[in-house]
Amino acid sequence: MSSTTTWNPATYARDARFVADLGQPLLQLLAPRDGEIIMDLGCGDGALTEKIPREVSVVGTDASFAQARAAKARGLSIVAVDGHHLCFKRQFDAVFTNAALHWMRQPEKVVEGVWQCLKTGGRFIGEFGVNGNVETVRSALHEALLHRGIDPLAVDPWYFPSAEDFSNLLVNSSFTVRSIEIIQRPTPLPGELFNWLEIFAQPFTNAIEKHHRQSFLDEVCRRSETALRDADGRWTVDYVRLRFAAVKC
Ligand code: BEZ
Repeated sequence: MSSTTTWNPATYARDARFVADLGQPLLQLLAPRDGEIIMDLGCGDGALTEKIPREVSVVGTDASFAQARAAKARGLSIVAVDGHHLCFKRQFDAVFTNAALHWMRQPEKVVEGVWQCLKTGGRFIGEFGVNGNVETVRSALHEALLHRGIDPLAVDPWYFPSAEDFSNLLVNSSFTVRSIEIIQRPTPLPGELFNWLEIFAQPFTNAIEKHHRQSFLDEVCRRSETALRDADGRWTVDYVRLRFAAVKC
């Protein structure tokens, strides 16, 4: 049984390209300036990283070697490092992060590492899942595990704080919060919820014996379909984002 997620760049490109596409508005909040040095924390396969203008030096970081390799293949500068173990000192004008912080279960450690990475005046700009994010699917995963006698809290990999808790965490780490907002973002999937679960729900599925995984995922889809599937069979997942901008003063 593994509690980790194995990222497959090919599957990710096919079924999860919307993650980078929908992250593009965040680049406006980042507002990169010529000559800056910027880190993309949890850059995945680099699809959004490469949209940062070339007048900026960008370093992508990711804990997955496979995703880091895919990002490198785009010609990006990439360091394969877990966000809990950042080891840079006052090197960056900004740290940017899209759809990655909710995979990091020790956020205090991550935010402290980001603080250390930034120069004075440096920006920490990001977006990730807030309390209530993908709630229908998360509840279905929990119920289907409980149904099989497994404690879902022991395997749930996601950190979805409230805006207040995350803001307090930033302030406690000496950041000044410039803005923080909750964005309801119902997100149409390019295909079946089953495909989404195969990419993003591995820590739940891995808690089930291999030969029962298909019926587990079928049950999660059944439990979600009334809320998330329309009459034409299209799935729209109830994403809710927390978008923030903070500064190291
Ligand atoms: C998200 O981007 O909010 C997300 C993606 C997959 C699983 C959970 C959350």
